[in-house]
Amino acid sequence: MNASATGTVSLRAAAQACRFHIGAAVAVRPLLEDPRYGEVLAREFTMVTAENAMKWPHLRPSRGVFDFSGADEIVRFAERHGMRVRGHTLVWHHGNPKWLEQGAFDRRETAALLREHIYTVVGHYRGRVAYWDVVNEAVGDATEPLRQSFWLRQLGPEYLDLAFRWAHEADPAAKLVYNDYGAEGLNEKSERVFALVRGLLERCVPIHGVGLQMHVNLSATEWLPDLAQNMERLAALGLEVQVTELDVRLKKPIDAADRQAQAALYADILRTCLAAPGCSALVLWGFTDRASWIPHYYENHDEALIFDREYAPKPAHAALVKVLRERCTPLR
Ligand code: XIL
Repeated sequence: MNASATGTVSLRAAAQACRFHIGAAVAVRPLLEDPRYGEVLAREFTMVTAENAMKWPHLRPSRGVFDFSGADEIVRFAERHGMRVRGHTLVWHHGNPKWLEQGAFDRRETAALLREHIYTVVGHYRGRVAYWDVVNEAVGDATEPLRQSFWLRQLGPEYLDLAFRWAHEADPAAKLVYNDYGAEGLNEKSERVFALVRGLLERCVPIHGVGLQMHVNLSATEWLPDLAQNMERLAALGLEVQVTELDVRLKKPIDAADRQAQAALYADILRTCLAAPGCSALVLWGFTDRASWIPHYYENHDEALIFDREYAPKPAHAALVKVLRERCTPLR
């Protein structure tokens, strides 16, 4: 299936002339099992994120074992097709392996484990992963500045500084990102994210960017006007900003009008990103509704991505291509 087979220009072709990456999260199984998945991925995108393959339980099935097999598939695919890689993620409150969370480790041992993990994983991909989501979702949803987690409990708030410093030591050329959700517009959480990253910078912790996940529904139009301002203030700190996990879930039953509204929202988010200083990439959380986390995690929602289950482009695809062709600033 090439671009002419779908009757549309690919995102990758439309983005080619700009200093901007358009990416997608990738799952290992369809990459290995469904040739159409890899064809569309390589044709449409310039960047990939490992959806799960670089998370702790995948890389560390047990304490003594590092298993890079799935993650290596993704990185090799990206290299074969001239795509950049985002590594995701080194420190997260969610989904840590049992042997880690239930192990009887004291502070010193936990720090040693985290350092070993970061040195080994970032070191394994040294020079091959352009951006690392070093810490994911550390800020609390309610009022607490930092979310309760294994890492906070074991290491205290210092775990963030340590993680970024170790990642920088392991690959000084990789750009290091703090990634979170619900901090897209101007709200209490984005205030706390802003304060957190400003604090890291003040302590000379090596951080280069903030990732805004953006798992949204059609009500995102409410905070969209604030997105530009939020991106601007982060850029004013000298940080890059990236949209790291965009998907726009629709509530069932879904009709053609929903798909049009979805297309308009995708386009508005891309337009905002392209216009913002420092917004260097927009990454979707998958690309085909065939392989999306949405139906498994959001009851009664589906069709969040820009290709349908048979890899046919949806209105959102054409809308993104149009924005790229109109708005992306050509490389000089
Ligand atoms: C999700 C994956 O898409 C699922 O397949 C997995 O079961 C759970 O994690 N924020 C993140 C991502 O940073 O890592 C999450 O990915 C989605 C929410």
